[in-house]
Amino acid sequence: MNIYNLKDKSTASIYTAIALLKTIKNNPQAILGLATGSTMVELYPQFTDLLRANQVDVSGVHTFNLDEYVGLEATHPQSYYTYMHERLFNQYEGWQESNIHIPNGKSDEAVDEGARYEQLLHEMGRPDIQILGIGENGHIGFNEPGTSFESTTSIVDLTPSTLHANSIHFEHADDVPKQAVSMGLSSIMRAERIILLAFGEKKIDAIRRLATGEISEELPASILHRHSNVEVIVDDVIFKALH
Ligand code: GLP
Repeated sequence: MNIYNLKDKSTASIYTAIALLKTIKNNPQAILGLATGSTMVELYPQFTDLLRANQVDVSGVHTFNLDEYVGLEATHPQSYYTYMHERLFNQYEGWQESNIHIPNGKSDEAVDEGARYEQLLHEMGRPDIQILGIGENGHIGFNEPGTSFESTTSIVDLTPSTLHANSIHFEHADDVPKQAVSMGLSSIMRAERIILLAFGEKKIDAIRRLATGEISEELPASILHRHSNVEVIVDDVIFKALH
């Protein structure tokens, strides 16, 4: 695992947007694993800009998002469905709704949404690239500390740390859903290439622990040490704190 300091969020977002663009140019039927959160807010406008500039046909591309809150309608302003459509899918012609995969946070109780999503992931093949953020406690997707490295997509409980971190996006702290549907750690590891982005003071601790190289289920992101094609992209704030 290599850690690169791209100095700031803007440069890191352009780098990642270029990586996504190249993935599609190399394979117009590519499968992209996408992430949400504050970390990604500059990535999707940059990516859209490059798609426009290069007049890329994305109609054959499939996307899989990492996670979704349980209990929110897709149209809820804080759902990851809304996040992705507002920032990416509604911004460029050609994205096919049938090729956009986001876990359903409002699935019928009779449906095992985790199993359905995991099966779809396997049917489609391995994602060409997976973009990841990281939680302050080292989670990836919504796989909180203690999650098995063997985990597949399932409904997971969010920890107080994550509920607190994500409460900034909701009017009241109590509005943050307590559960999510998240791709599991073994699901994430299936991608051919992984780019993890981390910016700012709040992520220093998680990246410091990741950089030790120790592999432990107490730090979910540490599973990435077992993947042969991972880049961790940080900013100056994190890099300087580590050196
Ligand atoms: C969220 C998401 C993750 C994200 C992480 C960091 O809770 N489930 O996919 O990577 O936590 O979020 P942010 O980018 O807002 O710091």
